[in-house]
Amino acid sequence: MEQYVIKGGNPLNGEVEIGGAKNAALAILAAAIMTDETVTIENLPNVRDINVLLQAIAEIGAMVDRIDAHTVKINGSFIKDVTVDNEFIRRIRASYYLIGALLGKYKKAEVALPGGCDIGSRPIDLHIKGFRAMGADVDIAHGLVIAEAEKLNGTHIYLDKVSVGATINIMMAASMAEGKTVIENAAKEPHVVDVANFLNSMGANIRGAGTDVIRIVGVEKLHKTEYSVIPDQIEAGTFMFAAAAAGGDVLVKDVIPKHLEATTAKLVEAGCKVEEFDDAVRIISDGKLHHTQVTTLPYPGFPTDLQSPLLAVLTTVPGISRIRENIFENRFKICSELTKMGAHIEVRGSEVKICGSRLKGCRLRAEELRGGAALVIAALAADGESVIEGVPFIRRGYEDICRDLRYLQAEIYMEDILSV
Ligand code: EPZ
Repeated sequence: MEQYVIKGGNPLNGEVEIGGAKNAALAILAAAIMTDETVTIENLPNVRDINVLLQAIAEIGAMVDRIDAHTVKINGSFIKDVTVDNEFIRRIRASYYLIGALLGKYKKAEVALPGGCDIGSRPIDLHIKGFRAMGADVDIAHGLVIAEAEKLNGTHIYLDKVSVGATINIMMAASMAEGKTVIENAAKEPHVVDVANFLNSMGANIRGAGTDVIRIVGVEKLHKTEYSVIPDQIEAGTFMFAAAAAGGDVLVKDVIPKHLEATTAKLVEAGCKVEEFDDAVRIISDGKLHHTQVTTLPYPGFPTDLQSPLLAVLTTVPGISRIRENIFENRFKICSELTKMGAHIEVRGSEVKICGSRLKGCRLRAEELRGGAALVIAALAADGESVIEGVPFIRRGYEDICRDLRYLQAEIYMEDILSV
């Protein structure tokens, strides 16, 4: 069983290079099978969920040639099966992107119901609403989403909630439907824009990604492309919060500063200094921060995926801070682990009230991706040693956070102990 051992109290100093955006790359990998020509994808994050999705794409017959850890070539012309179901794909949320991709290309898909981090009910009703609006029959049976259509027709869809997954999935299917589709109340995340740019590089006709109205004119065929995934603003923000909590001077490289605006604004408000460069941000913190408050919102608001990392920072900041989680209904589970370290947190429904204090290292357990990253941040700021179990959860979204933090002079190492 892999676990991180962290000795807190050291400031972070140095440089960290950010990888490709997991939540863009997962959708791009699914979209890549929509052409019968070869697609090359670069700047792929080498994280567990990516490898699980690539395995599933290979299993249905696509050619998957892993050039290196961060580059893959995919050719969908060899696909012989539209049924995607194995024990690994059932654990990741992004399996649902294969529904939109297969339905768009083959007008049929049978994909295991999505898994993913346990942060709320995470329904897929909006995805299904979109597919049905385009003329598909969609049912859920035997743990599979079964979708089929004589043909997909362009239509006008209003999303009742802003949903990244539904926006991307409908955009994918619509890119090979007949006629024009309009998605209203669309998600505007950078990774939605990245997937639209990727599809357009394959010959799709998508306009308005990044705004709340996306217009797609379906095409018959998509063609080959070479594409590089945008940097991961959540990974970047995680290291920024780690530097804020531990103190220090860190250059976060290979990022798009504009994608980090809400995170940067919050860090400056809390007393950090942040310098922006073309493709990097530098964060300087004396570790003495001011309390603050935040509400998570769809982009360009403060991202829900950085709520737990910010929460970890605020548990060490004197005074009263508050966080309201507007996106997921169960994203405060990490509070019980932080309380073991001496954090003072009151959970009241979708809001937490935090009274900052010194934290003490102890044995902790990660149970989901961003909560696990938050525990690492808290351990870096705590007095003494912490042991964090559940490393596989963290590696779903961070290639090697241990390696990267060691480059920043953190006292952290991974040990693999036999589980008893
Ligand atoms: C994506 O999840 C990301 N995952 C999440 O990142 C991220 O937190 C989330 O977007 C919001 O940015 C991937 O891209 C693989 P949503 P997704 O659809 O698509 C509700 C991480 O840590 N909803 O935008 O599932 C939903 O319950 C992960 O990297 C419906 O009601 O998020 C939530 O309350 C965690 N019906 C809200 O919408 C639907 O059909 C936003 O969810 C779909 C969603």
